[in-house]
Amino acid sequence: MSDHFEKVGLVSEIPDVGRLSVILGDEVSALVLRAGDDFYCVEDICTHDGQPMTDGDFDGCELTCPRHGAKFNVKTGAATQMPATEPVRTFPVEIRNGEIYVEYDD
Ligand code: FES
Repeated sequence: MSDHFEKVGLVSEIPDVGRLSVILGDEVSALVLRAGDDFYCVEDICTHDGQPMTDGDFDGCELTCPRHGAKFNVKTGAATQMPATEPVRTFPVEIRNGEIYVEYDD
């Protein structure tokens, strides 16, 4: 079976509503975002002007770019507030025995 999931960290490393910075495939900066039992992964680059969103507010549903305030739905990647209009890339996440795996296929 082809499995493009890679282990990126542990559930215990992320607060109930929080994030973990990871590198996928040694090339893509991404954020694993946790909202209770739900986990998401988005590329850590704002589609408005390339700002890393590592320090952006996360309310459990939307991630805010710290530069100009664009918001993204972390489940779908959709831009929900200007000035961004393009979605941010998302990656599937699986939790296996307390470990976080993200699917990345370049
Ligand atoms: S760079 Fe993110 S809103 Fe402008």
